[in-house]
Amino acid sequence: MSDGHDRLRLFSAQVFGKLEGAMTAGMIHLGDRLGLYRALADADQPMTSVELAVATDLHERWVREWLHNQAAARLLDHDVADGDDRFSMSREAKAVLATPDHPAFGMGMFHRLPATMQSLERMPESFETGLGHDYDSHGAQGAEGIERSFEPWNNANLLRTVLPAMDGVVDLLQNGARLADVGCGAGSAVMMMAEAFPNSEFVGYDISRHALDRARAKLASSPLPNARFIDPRDERLPRDGSFDVITTFDCIHDMSHPQDTIDAIRLSLHDDGHWLLVDIDAADDLAGNMEANPMASLLYGVSVLSCMSSAMSEPGGAGLGTLGLPASKAEEMARAAGFTRFERLPVDHAVNAFYEIRP
Ligand SMILES: C[S@@+](CC[C@H](N)C(=O)[O-])C[C@H]1O[C@@H](n2cnc3c(N)ncnc32)[C@H](O)[C@@H]1O
Repeated sequence: MSDGHDRLRLFSAQVFGKLEGAMTAGMIHLGDRLGLYRALADADQPMTSVELAVATDLHERWVREWLHNQAAARLLDHDVADGDDRFSMSREAKAVLATPDHPAFGMGMFHRLPATMQSLERMPESFETGLGHDYDSHGAQGAEGIERSFEPWNNANLLRTVLPAMDGVVDLLQNGARLADVGCGAGSAVMMMAEAFPNSEFVGYDISRHALDRARAKLASSPLPNARFIDPRDERLPRDGSFDVITTFDCIHDMSHPQDTIDAIRLSLHDDGHWLLVDIDAADDLAGNMEANPMASLLYGVSVLSCMSSAMSEPGGAGLGTLGLPASKAEEMARAAGFTRFERLPVDHAVNAFYEIRP
């Protein structure tokens, strides 16, 4: 066989490998949504498709085909015992697929996969007009998926690792301070910090109706007198230096006018205040991301459908996108807003970089 033919087969296999990933990602969404992973994780021995169908109250034929996909994708372990196909989960599979309070739990992105993929229908128009779509275009499922994406790691690390890495912030919050979480999404970080630091006051700002609905519903069911959630279009960040700490988790690169937000953060922050910027750990250019980040193609794809789309959702949008805020750019934008101190925090995370930025 010729070299050209081999290269063609290899390239074809590479392309269809992407489609295999997309299909299996859809099956992972179903496994999470239908409780299939949960039931497998709870079982004390490998299950047949009949047993899993009974445990989940689902139709056996469909469950069996799903199990075959998951075994073929090597996500579930498969054995044949007494002529029956049996399926089980490794310890790692249980952590990533079935344990919401494990820091490695990864179902958030899969939760919002249908909503994210649905936006493909809007893309041809966006590619023509340049205008993207904000987070609410992904509906309530999108907001819930974002919440489930970030909560597991934050629950395990925000109070224990991230805040203590900042200069005196835990003391400030213990004694009584004001903190704003800008781009707060469904409010998990605000809720967690408000509960941990009852002497301090916490305000979450977001422009997503679906995210704010979730945040306010959580607050209504677990009332905290020191937390509230605001749409900054109803009540903008105060320009009076009245916040001691501002946090932004994975959202500046999503904003259509991030420099305006950073300017507003500076104005609302006390001259001795602290800004915790958490954003995707990106290189300065495509080549750097391709070399250093094994998830670069995933992240550029998420950017088109979600992050950059949001960042282009208003005329004149900056369009930074998922990998659009490397340290150099973040520092440049912070200094342009009047910040003078910029430090990367020693926090270990698979995707994000953490910065403490001060006036
Ligand atoms: C990827 S989500 C992160 C949400 C949250 N920080 C978390 O960690 O779960 C990005 C959020 O930024 C919000 N956002 C985008 N532009 C914004 C703006 N100009 N002001 C406030 N929030 C904004 C979106 O609505 C979305 O909820």
